[in-house]
Amino acid sequence: MAKPPRPLIAGNWKMNGLSASLNEARLLAGMLKGVKLVCEVMICPPATLIGPVRKLVKSAKIKVGGQDCHQKESGAHTGDISAEMLKDAGASAVIVGHSERRADHGETDAVVRAKARAAMRAGIVAIICVGETLEQRKAGQTLAVVSAQLQGSVPEGATAAGVVVAYEPVWAIGTGLTPTAAEVGDVHAHIRRELGKLMGKPEARKTRILYGGSVKPGNAAELMAVPDVNGALVGGASLKAADFIGIIKAYS
Ligand code: 13P
Repeated sequence: MAKPPRPLIAGNWKMNGLSASLNEARLLAGMLKGVKLVCEVMICPPATLIGPVRKLVKSAKIKVGGQDCHQKESGAHTGDISAEMLKDAGASAVIVGHSERRADHGETDAVVRAKARAAMRAGIVAIICVGETLEQRKAGQTLAVVSAQLQGSVPEGATAAGVVVAYEPVWAIGTGLTPTAAEVGDVHAHIRRELGKLMGKPEARKTRILYGGSVKPGNAAELMAVPDVNGALVGGASLKAADFIGIIKAYS
């Protein structure tokens, strides 16, 4: 059996963070400096803070990511930010297709795929989010929904180095609810099989599949121990360094 990929714990700050929040990044960097980490650690702050966060956390080997990008490199798209711009500001990854963007901005799988392709073009990692709603889960459609999202959003030529998949059940985001460990394991195993069809099995085996949705210090160890879970995409609990470190410790 090939060695599992190095896990990734990524914090998605969403639309939270003023310059005062830089203190949390500073605290986290202080806690992790000199620590030999089993997992990779990343903060995805709002775009306004990418540069300043990067400066604060670089020496602690914490990575920085964006939360969205436009599919084009540049042009007349007022208010949008390209993957190249994120990279230039210090990001090494970008989240694409988060369910909040799919819901708030009507992003389709085709749009998500174009954004993932843009990240690949810019040379940053695309963290592609998928996940079912509560209605879909109740209707027994979880695996079918996730398959369709993957088929629609993972670009051709995607590699384990260029792409991360985040499974985020919509009903688990910000609710305090999570699927059971067995349910998470079923979906992650399914995602890996689907990625095998899309990328080829060797790449699929090396691709990180994160779980996201109400990950907290209290449940991280159990969730991260599930087979085929290679880390977490964390919302609320990534905003405070003290909480986020509790999740990172699931891998120490
Ligand atoms: P919470 O951890 O706040 O549930 O958010 C998860 C999420 O959406 C991360 O992208």
